Amino acid sequence: MQQPENQNLQSTERSWSPHYHFFKLGFWINDPNGLFYLDGKYHLFFQLNPDDVVWGNMHWGYATSENLIDWEHQPIALHAEPEGLGYIFSGGAVVDTNNTAGFATGEYPAVIATFTHQSENEEQVQSIAYSVDGGQNFTKYTRNPVIPNPGLKDFRDPKVVWYAKKQYWVKAVVAGQCVYFYQSSDLKSWQKLSEFGHNHGAHGGIWECPDLFPLICSETGEERWVLLISINPGGPNGGSATQYFIGDFDGVEFKPQDSPLGNSQIHWLDYGTDCYAGITWDNTPDILQSRTYIAWMSNWDYARDTPDNTWRGAMTLPRKISLVKSEVGYLLATPPAIDFNGGNSISRSETLNQQPLVIPEAYKLVFTLNSDSTKTVLQWQSASKETFVLTIDFANKLILADRTQSGFNEKGFDTIVKMPIEVLEQQNVEIEIYADACSFELFFNGSRQCITMLTFPTTPFNQLSIAPDSEEKLVNDVKLSAYKAANSLKRLK
Ligand code: FRU
Repeated sequence: MQQPENQNLQSTERSWSPHYHFFKLGFWINDPNGLFYLDGKYHLFFQLNPDDVVWGNMHWGYATSENLIDWEHQPIALHAEPEGLGYIFSGGAVVDTNNTAGFATGEYPAVIATFTHQSENEEQVQSIAYSVDGGQNFTKYTRNPVIPNPGLKDFRDPKVVWYAKKQYWVKAVVAGQCVYFYQSSDLKSWQKLSEFGHNHGAHGGIWECPDLFPLICSETGEERWVLLISINPGGPNGGSATQYFIGDFDGVEFKPQDSPLGNSQIHWLDYGTDCYAGITWDNTPDILQSRTYIAWMSNWDYARDTPDNTWRGAMTLPRKISLVKSEVGYLLATPPAIDFNGGNSISRSETLNQQPLVIPEAYKLVFTLNSDSTKTVLQWQSASKETFVLTIDFANKLILADRTQSGFNEKGFDTIVKMPIEVLEQQNVEIEIYADACSFELFFNGSRQCITMLTFPTTPFNQLSIAPDSEEKLVNDVKLSAYKAANSLKRLK
């Protein structure tokens, strides 16, 4: 991906720049914001510090893509006004197809960005901005804020959805450790509908970045509403993580239902340490069948201290969220939304023997694992003898991802992620691992469970050994696809 000019870039001895994950060289980024799709383009906004590689002075940065893998950096979309309503915190965007707000002037439907302004004295209010040229330029609404602060320290991250049954917009805003829902017919004037979360879900930390949307299960044809809530701290493996609720929304209240694994069970969208503040794109094709999602690939515990100071913060792989019926009720599946094999990779099938596989820095690894196996261990190793170890233990229904010996391990980074294996649909379990210069993303059991983790080895992991627990062929169909940027593929021809 072409990176913009930046003045602050200092050289470090080792770069961990991602090959196929979104990041911005020279700058700090965190949460994805304002995601919408229009005329074949995905628009990605994000929390950006335009002056530094640490958090602060928040603006909305901007990039666009046609395939969710090759991104084009664009000029800053929303600038902070330190003297006015303040910095631009997280939020969403909607394409106002029916011109309910009346902002559209011509060719394009108006796009309305909904975001939090945080003032110098840290007051948080909800504001809007609109674009009449398909997202290239945004104008802040002159009558901001559209929702004043109701007396709360934490009141932020507005995300809007169209409630078709009653023909109005619904906005979710997090308020401390719960979420407030509001309604509006014009995106400018908002009335509060209800609150959710006082007696539900994980409460180990503050709630952030809500996202409420309907999905139809392709198998049953039934509709359910999904609510994503990020929480920090209080994740299942420390620090930041995202929980999800599946239930019903009647235009006023959200009621969780079909709790797949019992009511006290928290459902984590990703069990890893590095998938946070994710939200979904508005206006994508077939949006009722699946929602396209992306998250910030870091954790507030150590985000400011990761070793590569030529950039800080990247996005996870974009994923497609859909509703799947399992024997314990509805669950979410979140497979990657990119076509890794579509001209961006070179694949080879691997035969497992005693020799470790020689691996590139950025690739996708796919295999199936028979659940008759008890314990299978995958160990990545670098020339500097650092390791990342993944243990898939069907006997104890547990997956472990150990980065304690992976190189950088300060500020609580030395974690062993534990993920209980929930529901298995098939005997042969499909496992997909997407690795990049400083990340692993594991998609397990038809992507019903995921682990995203950063690692910063001193030298790249270049060997992988896969140790099955028996002589029997329980690990099958191993395929490795090395990532090649589209233009380097062209050069190869
Ligand atoms: C989540 C978050 C949001 C906030 C933003 C500030 O990571 O804390 O709640 O709007 O980051 O950058």
